[in-house]
Amino acid sequence: MTAFVLGATGFVGREVVRQLCVRGVRTVAHVRPDSSSLEAWRTRFAALGAAVDTTAWEETALTARLRELTPAQLYVLIGTTRAKAKIDRVDGDIYEAVDLRLTQLAVTAARASETRPRIVFLSSVGAARGARSPYLRARGKAEDVVTGSGLPWVIARPSFIIGDRDEARRGERGAALVGDSLLAVAGAFGGKQVRDKYSSTTPDVLASALIRIAEAPEHDRIAEGGALR
Ligand SMILES: NC(=O)c1ccc[n+]([C@@H]2O[C@H](COP(=O)([O-])OP(=O)(O)OC[C@H]3O[C@@H](n4cnc5c(N)ncnc54)[C@H](OP(=O)(O)O)[C@@H]3O)[C@@H](O)[C@H]2O)c1
Repeated sequence: MTAFVLGATGFVGREVVRQLCVRGVRTVAHVRPDSSSLEAWRTRFAALGAAVDTTAWEETALTARLRELTPAQLYVLIGTTRAKAKIDRVDGDIYEAVDLRLTQLAVTAARASETRPRIVFLSSVGAARGARSPYLRARGKAEDVVTGSGLPWVIARPSFIIGDRDEARRGERGAALVGDSLLAVAGAFGGKQVRDKYSSTTPDVLASALIRIAEAPEHDRIAEGGALR
């Protein structure tokens, strides 16, 4: 069984790669070819036992690569931030331009490859096509692309993902802390389901849950809540 991981260099992606390797899954970690840290990622992933793939984010190339590798699962763990979009010189609606467009590209390539991998899509709690936040709106549209693909799929909708990142995201960490405190209060007053749905998580817990739902017999389901239940 082969797992192909898009977004392998991310906070969650790198942990998914590590855990897949520990489980003995043949793991292909995708790194964008123009990554300024490509050699460091090659070393890091090689040490884990993962193969590194640098196929361009281009439909024909990605289709051909997926056809060669025939992965059982295609993890889509990508997404930009305002800081990253600035470095990448992405203008306009950055979440449509990156999160949605790259998900569309991955799904189109997976379909065209005729290998029918299961799409494992990392989304977010609150994702909805009609959401007011551009981020959640793009996530919602990307979910629609995945669910309408005709391929087997699973979608994970975590709340905040916290831990020691390469870059400081103080706002995110602060929001998670405040949110978790409020949720603890809500839980004490009987709002256990709300607490379960919105509590923050960590990459190791999330990666393990993602792999579990990726490999479970059931598919075409949205997983959310504590360790994605
Ligand atoms: N962080 C949270 O609290 C949270 C909560 C709920 C859901 N999520 C969702 O989960 C996703 C993954 O989270 P994360 O924390 O692992 O994110 P992350 O650390 O920022 O990783 C994002 C991944 O996307 C890739 N990427 C970003 N922009 C790209 C571009 N223009 N072209 C190609 N690749 C690009 C990055 O590649 P490089 O390393 O090469 O830049 C990296 O592999 C997020 O995008 C978000 O939508 C996050």
